Amino acid sequence: MLQQQLLDDLAAASAPEQVEQVRIKYLGRKGLITNYAKDTDFSKLSAEEKKNFGQKLNELKAFAAEKLAEAAEKTAAHSLPAVRRPTLDLTVPGTGSTLGAMHPIRMVQLELESVFEGMGFTVLDSPEAETEYGNFESVNIPADHPARDMQDTFWLQNEMVLRTHTSANQVRALRRFGAPFRGIFPGRCFRYESIDPSHENTFFQCEGLMVDENISVAHLIGVMKTLLSKIFKRDVKVRLRPGFFPFVEPGFELDLNCLFCGGKGCPTCGDGWIELIPCGLTHPKVLEHGGVDTSKYSGFAFGIGLTRLAMMKYGIRDIRYFNSGDVRVLEQFAAVI
Ligand code: DAH
Repeated sequence: MLQQQLLDDLAAASAPEQVEQVRIKYLGRKGLITNYAKDTDFSKLSAEEKKNFGQKLNELKAFAAEKLAEAAEKTAAHSLPAVRRPTLDLTVPGTGSTLGAMHPIRMVQLELESVFEGMGFTVLDSPEAETEYGNFESVNIPADHPARDMQDTFWLQNEMVLRTHTSANQVRALRRFGAPFRGIFPGRCFRYESIDPSHENTFFQCEGLMVDENISVAHLIGVMKTLLSKIFKRDVKVRLRPGFFPFVEPGFELDLNCLFCGGKGCPTCGDGWIELIPCGLTHPKVLEHGGVDTSKYSGFAFGIGLTRLAMMKYGIRDIRYFNSGDVRVLEQFAAVI
């Protein structure tokens, strides 16, 4: 009876002070348990009965003490959040905020765009998925051409292809704007590559095209030299060697003397030269695909390896950092507050 009454009282006690009230009620100086024996006439009890009575009373006290202790603990724990609720302390120093950074490839791209804009080139955006015609045929790479093997890539289920280069935009732009034309097309490209410090399956190029009357190799070299000296802000050594690309005739490879090793040869460049800008005079077939009168106009084109350019410019020795998603790489390009 008394036990149950105690349990009921404790169940209703939700704060430590209420538990204390219950303790006083049962075990206090005038408590129900303390005074349990008050009305008992011990003289009427046998020795055996006295002993039993004492034992019961002790058990009752122990029971009450245990339940009270449990309840005290429970309500104390329960009331903790109220006591420790975090408060706003305006005197604590702040954690500061981190600054986002522009991706190094993007930085090089923006720089290129402004140099080219200064030379009267338009900057055009372009799709990453191309038709087979756009990616290959329009730039004079028919289905049986061996150059297709060099640009093995990712085919989409709708027979489109993730572009292997930005060259398809030459014909797209000529059809849209006609000649004369000066423009660049920066963008992401994809190839089925085995990955190493200088090859990635996803990389950036910046295609360029200039079509006008009497365009010659001299114009091409002039534009390339202007570009590289502005980008590297110093004299750089370049070399031109013959190169083959189906969409230019003649075609060249413009190599940059390695800025890491000064041309001695290192893991990034190999033999001291970085293949940077393939280029050439636009093949008449490409101009024809673009609907340009080849008796009047000629042109030059180039495909700058934006990713490689960023590696050179910022001293990034491994191409895999670019797409790694490792913020420690990008953080280094954040402005310091
Ligand atoms: N599209 C070529 C590639 O990705 C690069 C290229 C070479 C572009 C010569 C050009 C060019 O415009 O003239 O390998």
